Amino acid sequence: CGIVGYAGSKQAAPILLDGLSRLEYRGYDSAGLCVFSEGELKLAKSKGRLAVLRTKTENGATLPGYLGIGHTRWATHGAPSDENAHPQLSTNGSICIVHNGIIENFLPLKEFLLKQGKTFRSETDTEVIANLLEYYYEQENDLMKAVRLTLGRIEGSYALGILCADRPDSMIAVKKDSPLIFGFGEGENFIASDVPAILPYTRSVVYLNDGDMVVFTKNAAQFYDANGTPVRKAPEHIEWEMSAAQKGGYPHFMLKEIYDQPKALRDTINPRIRDGRVVLDDVKLDEGYLRGLRRIYMVACGSASYVGNHAKYILERTTRIQVEPVLASEFRYSEPVLGDDTLVIIISQSGETADTLAALREANARGARTLAIVNVVGSAISKAAHDVIYTCAGPEIAVATTKAYSTQLAVIYLLAMYIGEKLGTLAPECYAAMLEGLQRLPDQVAQILVPENLAKIEEAAEAFSRNHDVFFIGRNLDSATCLEGSLKLKEIAYVHSEAYPAGELKHGPISLIEEETLVVALATVEKLFDKTMANVREVKARGAHVLGVTTEDFAGEITKYVDRSLIVPKTHPLLQPSLTVIPLQAFAYYIALARGCDVDMPRNLAKSVTVE
Ligand code: G6P
Repeated sequence: CGIVGYAGSKQAAPILLDGLSRLEYRGYDSAGLCVFSEGELKLAKSKGRLAVLRTKTENGATLPGYLGIGHTRWATHGAPSDENAHPQLSTNGSICIVHNGIIENFLPLKEFLLKQGKTFRSETDTEVIANLLEYYYEQENDLMKAVRLTLGRIEGSYALGILCADRPDSMIAVKKDSPLIFGFGEGENFIASDVPAILPYTRSVVYLNDGDMVVFTKNAAQFYDANGTPVRKAPEHIEWEMSAAQKGGYPHFMLKEIYDQPKALRDTINPRIRDGRVVLDDVKLDEGYLRGLRRIYMVACGSASYVGNHAKYILERTTRIQVEPVLASEFRYSEPVLGDDTLVIIISQSGETADTLAALREANARGARTLAIVNVVGSAISKAAHDVIYTCAGPEIAVATTKAYSTQLAVIYLLAMYIGEKLGTLAPECYAAMLEGLQRLPDQVAQILVPENLAKIEEAAEAFSRNHDVFFIGRNLDSATCLEGSLKLKEIAYVHSEAYPAGELKHGPISLIEEETLVVALATVEKLFDKTMANVREVKARGAHVLGVTTEDFAGEITKYVDRSLIVPKTHPLLQPSLTVIPLQAFAYYIALARGCDVDMPRNLAKSVTVE
């Protein structure tokens, strides 16, 4: 989502609309404004692209005033609609807010607020914050105190712009785990979730830290740290041009999205863990139903289908139910054997892929229960499935998926634990170990993305960028990760590449190995390390170059077999693919760069394929 706030001497609404137009790439299912108009908080919101809001407000003319907030939404709680669009008002209209982030404990807070007589018009977690602010403001009669008390009760991530009907000249902004900047102008001040929104007006900004608060008018700004102590902040000067600013300073969306992964994983995992248990509020798979299940199909296209390949290993291990990954384009015409003892899990970033949607409809028609793992709230697939679990990756812009893929895998872990616990097929100590690993995963991904590691991956990519045939080999879960590593290379670097389970190599493809063929050997599955190294020896003997990928436990050992190696941290064996894939994404990215390819918009491909 995108946030903009303005306090100054010019008309606020056109400036807010202009700022939002430069954030539209962050989310575009609905948009809204709130401006202090003749002493009153006046709102305009609409589902759809920003153009709809522009028309509705006559380019802002229907909301005259000098101070206001705006928002462009990427739905997380509640489908795109006028009511769910931000800003959100509190029950009596005294508080109005825009919010980016996810409130994890919004359900218990909503119950509490309903008991206090507060009412809700939307399905958003944001309205809970507006009402909680109103509740504390009524109690304390002190807005700053009300903000502190509210923040003390909410768990999750937020960047907030807050207006209060009693304060027509000022605005409050706070943040935690969601970006927010403050921009200094001449006789005007700004807040924004991202630099592009305010770049034409000011290049003098402060990046707020977690826990920071700023209270400002058009002429003054007071900053406070997390303890409420007033602090001074020196502005930074932004040098970026607009296109770099939209990519958060990265040269490509793909690289930005690779770096977004720790946050995307946190947003997907954290709200679903409560009191040491996986909680899937939206899913209605009760124990009786699960006990009757004989088979689970994983149905998807492209990278999402490879998540299904991983799910076979992971879900079978924790649930002892047979899992079949099938490509959507094949599933739909295969007259699949379905009924009430089959669950069909559909995976899609966009929620609009034609073959995946058709496969879902086929499954519904044949009487199976369907569960969709989707990134885009309100998409066709999310509406047609019986149950939906959203990945919270945020908008993904690069055609080659990275963060959506990673969050889909995270949902598979959550489901594996959820079903495994209900069926009693996952021993408590295994459940505890997976939970611990899952909570550590975002930090471990961040650990891989430190500059010295990226430099190593870039070096390897440069060394191998001229190899024109590549084989990814691995065993067990690594064989599934090979599929994704290989697809990435094909998609963005236009390199002929294949993924092969290492044990299968000798049944054909080894005849293709010759001098300078590149073999990427994934060897993170501990008990199969030696077997995979035996295959590495076979390809080395035929002249191949070998890039090894393994965990820190084998960092020394692998150097005996391969030309170069990339090392990832170790985690629970079932979660390891989430770490193994990160260097493969970066490897494909750097090879594409070295070969001069258009990383974000590779030839012949589309982000969302809505034709058969
Ligand atoms: C296209 C994209 C792939 C993606 C696939 C499935 O082919 O280029 O990157 O994995 O569609 O898309 P979905 O939105 O259903 O996940």
